[in-house]
Amino acid sequence: MAESILDRFKEKVEEVKDRSGDGKKVKVGIIGTGWIAEAHVANYLKCPDVEIVAAADLIPGKAEKFCKDNGLEGVRLYPDHKSMIDAEQLDAVSVCTYNRTHAECTIYALEHGVNVLLEKPMCVTLEEAVAICRAEKASGKLLSIGFQPRFDENMKMVKKVVESGELGKVYYIQTGGGRRRGIPTPYGTSFIDDKTAGIGALADIGCYSLDMVLNAIGYPKPLTVTGYTSDFFGKDPVTYPGHPEYADVFSVDDFAAAFIRLEGGVILDFRISWAMNLDTPGDTIILGTKAGLRIPSTECWNGSIGGPLKIYKNIAGEEVETEIPQKHDDVDNFYKKIRLFIDAVKEGGAAPVPSSQIIYNQAIIDGISRSAKLGKEVEIDIPEI
Ligand SMILES: NC(=O)c1ccc[n+]([C@@H]2O[C@H](COP(=O)([O-])OP(=O)(O)OC[C@H]3O[C@@H](n4cnc5c(N)ncnc54)[C@H](O)[C@@H]3O)[C@@H](O)[C@H]2O)c1
Repeated sequence: MAESILDRFKEKVEEVKDRSGDGKKVKVGIIGTGWIAEAHVANYLKCPDVEIVAAADLIPGKAEKFCKDNGLEGVRLYPDHKSMIDAEQLDAVSVCTYNRTHAECTIYALEHGVNVLLEKPMCVTLEEAVAICRAEKASGKLLSIGFQPRFDENMKMVKKVVESGELGKVYYIQTGGGRRRGIPTPYGTSFIDDKTAGIGALADIGCYSLDMVLNAIGYPKPLTVTGYTSDFFGKDPVTYPGHPEYADVFSVDDFAAAFIRLEGGVILDFRISWAMNLDTPGDTIILGTKAGLRIPSTECWNGSIGGPLKIYKNIAGEEVETEIPQKHDDVDNFYKKIRLFIDAVKEGGAAPVPSSQIIYNQAIIDGISRSAKLGKEVEIDIPEI
């Protein structure tokens, strides 16, 4: 009870509801009207101070059908992000395109004075991430990256445990997650074709594992990476009942593993899978000098936590385990992602998920891809923004 009274987020929702009568709506455009755009629209529609005024998609007729299916009326439609941004006076856009066009859409919006909520992963290469951060800096506009698991109360608890000092000095982290069979092709091939996705499981769900632990320990700079990627399941036609032709399209990774050195002497051991002959490649563990933390994985890794967090330590010579009860939050994480972005746009606040952190996430993903291609360890060199 006390907790719900003290829940600051819910207070924020109330506050916004009260303000909505002032008639000033945030004008939003949607770039890319595919699968994830539905979640953006559904949650913008819950915000009385937001008006979705425009939508764009490269595929003729797609944005129109999307608007009809999602109950959007009077929305102006465009054949690409540029024509929409040029023609409209937008306060913000959601970049909901496949990974390959994240950078160009985000940079164009920022350069034209529009705030951006960019879907995860940030982009495909470190070079693109640097260009995005530079455009953000030059524009003075807001850029937030779409990592909604961050707003989950159990995920926040991981960070609180680390920050409390309970674990002592953190020196080793094992993270990742996976699916036994879970290559995402429900709406076609945009996740598995290099031309649209650029990277596979490594970026799609790997970015969540990396964010969970890097955010918890304060996003130290990555220094070196030894990476491995494979595509045994993606390239096998039996993986796609009814669509064996997808195997020919598959041109990204379906599994990745890496050994990463972080500033401050922390080792990060990482593995991620869209498909493998195992239920999960393991829980996330954070080892510290005073205690260790286990974060149970899920069968279908999507950035959520699979069970209560457990702390392992020695007290008075005895091995003690403490389970932290799971919290059940009644506010949807995706709604929080949208709401906090809009609040930051309106109030000139800081980005809920800043690019200054996620560039390290992208640098690791980029490092793993490079190292896997070269077959040796690579250094991570992030240019000045
Ligand atoms: N946060 C989450 O939980 C979550 C879940 C699923 C997907 N995603 C991310 O969302 C992104 C999109 O995924 P999706 O499944 O919706 O993809 P999708 O392929 O269903 O839709 C992407 C759409 O973007 C359009 N597009 C591409 N470039 C464009 C441009 N320049 N201008 C206008 N339209 C353009 C494409 O034509 C396509 O219709 C991916 O980066 C994915 O990783 C996030």
